[in-house]
Amino acid sequence: MSHSPLVSGAVVTGASRGIGAAIAAELARSGYGVCVNYLSSGAAAERVVASIEREGGRAIAVRADVRDDAAVREMVADAAEAFGGLRVLVNNVGTSAHATLDALSPADWNNAIASNLSSAFYAAKAALPYLRREPWARIINIASLRAMIGSDHGVQYAAAKAGLLGLTKSLALELAPAITVNAVSPGYTRTDMTRASLEREEEKIASRIPARRVAEPREIARLVAFLASEDAGYITGQTINQNGGIYMQ
Ligand SMILES: NC(=O)c1ccc[n+]([C@@H]2O[C@H](COP(=O)([O-])OP(=O)(O)OC[C@H]3O[C@@H](n4cnc5c(N)ncnc54)[C@H](OP(=O)(O)O)[C@@H]3O)[C@@H](O)[C@H]2O)c1
Repeated sequence: MSHSPLVSGAVVTGASRGIGAAIAAELARSGYGVCVNYLSSGAAAERVVASIEREGGRAIAVRADVRDDAAVREMVADAAEAFGGLRVLVNNVGTSAHATLDALSPADWNNAIASNLSSAFYAAKAALPYLRREPWARIINIASLRAMIGSDHGVQYAAAKAGLLGLTKSLALELAPAITVNAVSPGYTRTDMTRASLEREEEKIASRIPARRVAEPREIARLVAFLASEDAGYITGQTINQNGGIYMQ
């Protein structure tokens, strides 16, 4: 597959695996030089970069813990330097753990808020000076079905993702019109995050979804790539639910 000439840079947090890796590949196909961020899966991140390069695209793998404001700033600066600018930021990192309120410690809570919500604030703030230099730019936050329907096994995740929707709308208001800010809210998607429950009961999960199946990461990535395009300039402050119909607004 051949890529268009380099348009600008894009940062995708948590792109070594799952949905983030698929988003990185799609943005590279749209002509972006992609910063493939990871925390501990360095080899997997390098495989994502190699696969993008095999298709004729450009990418770099950058280790940064998105819970660390300084590390995020450094990553964003490296990406902008590598690709001569930064036009797209995808806040994709998310971590979820099963826990009841009884078992959930304040440290667990703070960690979930840091990785699912504060990370997006840090990255948006770090990216802003670069995004402002572009003729138009995009911030896309990956939320979750749980932001809308809650969770009986992860209050910290559902609350953090709901917070991400508030961040999305507020940044959309503040940064309009040149920078659009939207959220994509996936339902069950086949990644490491859902591997155990899909191995245990995929049929049961699928039977509760009107689409009768879970999503593949590429489906989420194609929507993100559209929101990242110039054609999506009239969409801002929105949450696009991509969940096979399991929740309808
Ligand atoms: N899968 C689903 O069914 C589903 C449903 C709704 C929403 N989502 C959301 O979609 C997004 C992607 O989910 P996924 O299922 O693709 O996740 P995943 O397969 O568990 O991958 C998580 C990615 O985030 C990275 N990461 C985790 N903590 C990090 C940190 N502190 N700093 C930097 N990178 C970090 C991981 O890097 P390493 O590889 O280095 O650990 C990995 O690349 C998340 O926001 C998730 O909440 C997923």
